[in-house]
Amino acid sequence: MTYAGSHLATNDAPLLGVNIDHVATLRNARGGDFPSPVEAARLVVDAGADIVTFHLREDRRHIRDDDVARLRETIRAPLNFEAAVTDEMLAIIERTRPEHVCLVPERRQEVTTEGGLEVAGQLARIREACVRLAEAGARVSLFIGADPAQIEAAAAAGAPCIELHTGAFANAWWARDAQAMAHELARLREGLRLGRSLGLRTHAGHGLALWSPGVERPADEPPSSTHMVAALPEVAELHIGHALVGHALFVGLAQAVRDFQAEAVLARRAGR
Ligand code: PXP
Repeated sequence: MTYAGSHLATNDAPLLGVNIDHVATLRNARGGDFPSPVEAARLVVDAGADIVTFHLREDRRHIRDDDVARLRETIRAPLNFEAAVTDEMLAIIERTRPEHVCLVPERRQEVTTEGGLEVAGQLARIREACVRLAEAGARVSLFIGADPAQIEAAAAAGAPCIELHTGAFANAWWARDAQAMAHELARLREGLRLGRSLGLRTHAGHGLALWSPGVERPADEPPSSTHMVAALPEVAELHIGHALVGHALFVGLAQAVRDFQAEAVLARRAGR
């Protein structure tokens, strides 16, 4: 489905952070400067995206240091800098001064960020990183699984926000596994509620998608994974990359932003 208008007015739909890493992946496939993730960031902000998200990985497999510098210089929307908890990354963040930081786990061999950050097992280290990043003016979020022990640890670490990893739910959605979807969605709902009860701002992201453009959803199929997560009232922000950039191949980047935003708005309206 594609939506004709610019994004529908609402007071309470989640903000949309657009992850531009996949534009950098496409650029890096040929080693040059095209397509530019910085140009893509400018375009998604012009289209109404609330936040520009990027992950500077240790191996620089997509976003590079010069992208980070250019994003900081040219993008007027808040930047959400995703990074592993390493001294190198903390120092780059302190220099860059993004508005937001999301601390994520990182394994060299993984294709994408496969699990949540282990907060409970390294509380002192995460707490120290949160203090350092807050001093650098960043609002810190921890990317964690919907596991009560990790959510409680995130609050104990002093992070103001958590982002719950929606990957397991998204995989169940792609597989159309109704039982797993219901199970994962319930875990997310409970995790979000627990986070909110501990005073945390709660976000969600990873693997979320729309129905393909031009494909009418059969009545017996579920709504999109983006819809199902956006409908959870505790979700204050969604961070979406892969499926949004994929959707953009069919409808263009600006329309893709509008389509994901409209989906979130409609999900919230439906839930009222
Ligand atoms: N949120 C976080 C913390 C991530 O690391 C990622 C992927 O880099 C996303 C959201 C977006 O995931 P996807 O690209 O699957 O939409």
